[in-house]
Amino acid sequence: MTEFPGLIPGGGDLAAFLSANKRAVDAALTDAGALVFRGFDVPNPHTFDATIEGYGETGFTYEDSLSNAVRTNVTPRVFTANEAPPSTEIFLHHEMAQTPLYPCKLFFYCEVAPGAGGATPLCRSDWVLERLAEQSPAFVARLEAEGVRYTNVMPASDDAGSGQGRSWRSTLSVADEAAAEARLKELGYSWEWLEDGSLRVTTAALPAVRSLEDGRTTFFNQLIAAFRGWADSRSDPNKAITFGGGEPITSEDMAPAIAIADELTHDLNWQAGDVALIDNFTVMHGRRPFEGKRRVLASLIA
Ligand code: FE2
Repeated sequence: MTEFPGLIPGGGDLAAFLSANKRAVDAALTDAGALVFRGFDVPNPHTFDATIEGYGETGFTYEDSLSNAVRTNVTPRVFTANEAPPSTEIFLHHEMAQTPLYPCKLFFYCEVAPGAGGATPLCRSDWVLERLAEQSPAFVARLEAEGVRYTNVMPASDDAGSGQGRSWRSTLSVADEAAAEARLKELGYSWEWLEDGSLRVTTAALPAVRSLEDGRTTFFNQLIAAFRGWADSRSDPNKAITFGGGEPITSEDMAPAIAIADELTHDLNWQAGDVALIDNFTVMHGRRPFEGKRRVLASLIA
């Protein structure tokens, strides 16, 4: 079994290392699914930005995304990973797999290591799917045949107290209700305006299993995060996910997936200056609750 995540110790300029070793790094990434660069000289967000430039692939901007997390840009390519409070656990997910627009890779950078807790759990979702298909073949067959739909409520203005508190104006990049509806129509979403000005949306049926070029399949979705975590003042996690046909995905359906994923999860315990590169199609990530300061920044690759 490949070491997971792959650890690449080093020193000096990580931007230069990535640009000189791009092919080898990409091969290692395909193999491991996640790489951690440790010991390099990455003292601040600007060096992190330069590191991403050194890697040399096109960025995927938060602004253009349909992400439901509240984030703040630090440099044009770098933003805070999620503004949700420290006590909030963010459960395993593939970045933005609950929308039709998602990045293929993610960079994370630890500027300030957490005092206690705050690891980034990582989980190979090809391994999860393999085990789940053995244990719950009917569930996996149904996910493959129907896909899944996600329902969430977007507030009228940003709510940084929630892991999915991004307002509908910001999420959809629109100024008013009419423009929001036009954008949702384009995306194939259905919607309902709520009395407090928030907006409940349900996606079109999105794939829940992804086939990779090399023939592997992965549990590429946000089922675990949506089922376990989309609870806030607006959203009921029991209504967050359905099969593509509209029937609910139950806790009985989800229990084996959650248990397998938990068992296969490896916590990345951050050290200041660490940079992680994650293949968003093979590896799920999350965030453990933490105490004290913690600053982990993110950047997405299109
Ligand atoms: Fe994420």
